[in-house]
Amino acid sequence: MKSDSITITEPQTTQQFEAYYLLRYQVLRQPWNQPPGSEKDNDEASSDHAMACDQNNTVLGVCRLQMNSATEAQLRYMGVKTDTQGLGIGKKLITYMEQKALQKGAEKMILQARENAVDFYTKCGYTIVEKSYLMWGQIQHYLMEKALR
Ligand SMILES: CC(C)(COP(=O)(O)OP(=O)(O)OC[C@H]1O[C@@H](n2cnc3c(N)ncnc32)[C@H](O)[C@@H]1OP(=O)(O)O)[C@@H](O)C(=O)NCCC(=O)NCCS
Repeated sequence: MKSDSITITEPQTTQQFEAYYLLRYQVLRQPWNQPPGSEKDNDEASSDHAMACDQNNTVLGVCRLQMNSATEAQLRYMGVKTDTQGLGIGKKLITYMEQKALQKGAEKMILQARENAVDFYTKCGYTIVEKSYLMWGQIQHYLMEKALR
């Protein structure tokens, strides 16, 4: 599959949100036996959501943007469907959210990177601030940041 056949949109309908959260669950929660529902937090309504879809409207990637302050944005819940990773979908999603963050007045984007994703974020221009926390006793996270302007 070519990444130019992938479009980034924001979920609108109930059905689109269901598909969006399902992929978030399948990529970021299910492999660690976390229960359904654990893929959501209390900030969903106040956040922006983006998803990457193919020409059949199948959701292949998701991520969320929240504003921590007037100038600091945070990217969360970035996940690409296992069999379509490495095709440029993650990069498209992060680029979309960086533009969105800029429109909202952000000067900086931060994120908590899983250890396996640090090299991906580095390729996208992020740098490590500090080794942060261990999730579920096994996934090391790193606080990373990027100046947007
Ligand atoms: C991390 C993840 C979001 C990256 O998305 P992706 O669509 O696979 O990445 P892309 O294809 O857009 O890669 C963009 C660039 O990063 C590189 N890259 C991606 N994953 C990488 C990795 N694990 N190690 C090194 N480089 C990587 C690609 O080679 C590409 O480089 P290029 O621009 O020179 O061609 C995705 O692999 C994923 O969902 N992983 C599992 C869930 C996860 O860990 N999410 C992050 C939570 S913080």
